[in-house]
Amino acid sequence: MASCTTRAQRGDRLRLLDAEDHLRKVRSGTIFALNQMLDLKDLDTGMHSTRLAEWAVRVGEHFGMMESELGDLETGAILHDVGKVGVPDAILNKPGKLDPEERKQVERHSEYGWAILRTIPTFERTSLLVLHHHERIDGKGYPTGLSGEDIPVGARIICVIDSFDAMISDRSYRKGLPVEEAIRRLRADSDTQFDRGVVDQFVRIVARDFVEVTS
Ligand SMILES: [Fe+2]
Repeated sequence: MASCTTRAQRGDRLRLLDAEDHLRKVRSGTIFALNQMLDLKDLDTGMHSTRLAEWAVRVGEHFGMMESELGDLETGAILHDVGKVGVPDAILNKPGKLDPEERKQVERHSEYGWAILRTIPTFERTSLLVLHHHERIDGKGYPTGLSGEDIPVGARIICVIDSFDAMISDRSYRKGLPVEEAIRRLRADSDTQFDRGVVDQFVRIVARDFVEVTS
């Protein structure tokens, strides 16, 4: 009887492992498919997303996040701009300055991203990180104007690492900033745009891991 129970338990455990493995494959397949869609839209997110995922996990670990939270954060870092599929190409690719109405349309990308991801089972918490990745610590961000610790910590992390990566990256219309200047700007905008605690941790991680993450 005892060995029969053990066999049953082993069977249950194998089925559970199979189900977890299947879920992991569905999640990574979904992320891959959404990334493919962004590529088709020519949003050039490839390396940017990969670096953000690396930075996000490293910063998240410093904040004591559990494995499932780190997974949500990593996915949020990869897919933070997925809502840009809903912004007209003419605005996304406009070479000059955006007018206020165009800027408003671009800013809708965080809500579009949330609307896309919240419909996918297991992506619900990630969708909230995407919704809030352009909030500011002083409450002057978008789309909801949340401030301080009301902004999910994962969204505060994505905000800092996304801004850093954008600052140091070359664009067709400008060269990327030196790392030291980008860090100076993150520090200058701490307590207004950025969470100072996240910036402090991130700066330490950049000093240690910059070559590893960017090469
Ligand atoms: Fe964004």
